[in-house]
Amino acid sequence: MPQQFSLPATTVPDPREAPALRWGILGTGWIAERFVAALLAATDQRVVAVGSRSAGSGKAFAAEHCPEARAHPSYEDLVADPDVDIVYVATPHNAHLPHAELAMRAGKHVLIEKPIAINAGQARRIAAIAAETGVYCAEAMWSFFLPKFDVIRQVLAAGVLGELRSFIADFGEHFDDDHRILRQDLAGGPMLDLGTYPVSLALSVLGVPDDVVARGTAAPSGVNGQVGMILRHGADRQSVVHTSLFSTTPTGAIIGGTDAVLTIPGVFYRPGSFRVDFHDGRAPLEYVEEPYGYHGLAYEAAETARRIVAGEVSTPVRPLRDSIDTLATMDEARRQIGAAFDEEK
Ligand SMILES: NC(=O)c1ccc[n+]([C@@H]2O[C@H](COP(=O)([O-])OP(=O)(O)OC[C@H]3O[C@@H](n4cnc5c(N)ncnc54)[C@H](OP(=O)(O)O)[C@@H]3O)[C@@H](O)[C@H]2O)c1
Repeated sequence: MPQQFSLPATTVPDPREAPALRWGILGTGWIAERFVAALLAATDQRVVAVGSRSAGSGKAFAAEHCPEARAHPSYEDLVADPDVDIVYVATPHNAHLPHAELAMRAGKHVLIEKPIAINAGQARRIAAIAAETGVYCAEAMWSFFLPKFDVIRQVLAAGVLGELRSFIADFGEHFDDDHRILRQDLAGGPMLDLGTYPVSLALSVLGVPDDVVARGTAAPSGVNGQVGMILRHGADRQSVVHTSLFSTTPTGAIIGGTDAVLTIPGVFYRPGSFRVDFHDGRAPLEYVEEPYGYHGLAYEAAETARRIVAGEVSTPVRPLRDSIDTLATMDEARRQIGAAFDEEK
């Protein structure tokens, strides 16, 4: 008789139970708005300051989203604010390294939006500065902090799928021509905004690949428009990942094993449901969760607060090593399709 298994409960605590830190928000764009909303709605974290390139946009952001926060007219002023414990870096990808460095050298802990940098070299530099300054530093790869992915990790660790052999995922989203993802000067293309989710998950499930094959096509603005990647993780495991800025695709993920397949329907990287179907006809396992969207950002903030108050400088949920390995994989794919960023030319 095959062993029976039922889904474990999540081990992720309620974000409200985390000790409160005083957050400073660096950059007041699309994701900063959602991060602040999640903190205020679903945690006891405090947003005490925002920093912007201009006094006007910082004030307007604070007035609309976090009226109790001080608005600083520059990022330098924000990181110098003695009331700020931790800086959330929410600027475009190619500004993450300089802005994270600015905050860390001012003695602030940092949570840096994904991708942590544009390439592995920059990510290693961030890791080196974190080690030098002794502050907490992690990539805000929010999916991995969600209860759903904690349960998935437990399922995989228990061997429920048998030997893991394959991972298949896509992430496509249609963007209008004026979005920053189309801009070469802001490290555009789908890889860093979107592809980083399936590539991160592929590595977390099957390990660092020993071979990468990529083919891509360009967008009219000149940045990469879409790319398909095959990753080989040792002799018997393989991932297939597609990412595109042309079309909104289902954005599902499948983890295939010798005994069962785990399917995360789109949108896989957000809160939501998944299921495990067994090859021997056993009843499937179903994880049912309302897809509550960006309030899920509360979990990464809560984990950050717990680690910092415990005196730790990283989180096992998203170690810097994993952020570097993800970028190294994407670097190799971009090398093969000739999609270099301005900073790399
Ligand atoms: N976790 C997620 O689900 C998620 C979702 C979307 C984006 N992100 C990540 O978050 C980062 C920001 O993305 P976003 O969509 O929020 O971008 P966005 O809306 O363009 O906002 C970026 C902000 O950065 C600041 N900034 C600094 N230098 C800039 C420059 N040269 N050009 C434009 N803005 C500049 C601006 O704030 P000030 O005017 O205040 O200085 C701007 O509002 C990206 O790395 C992205 O990958 C994560």
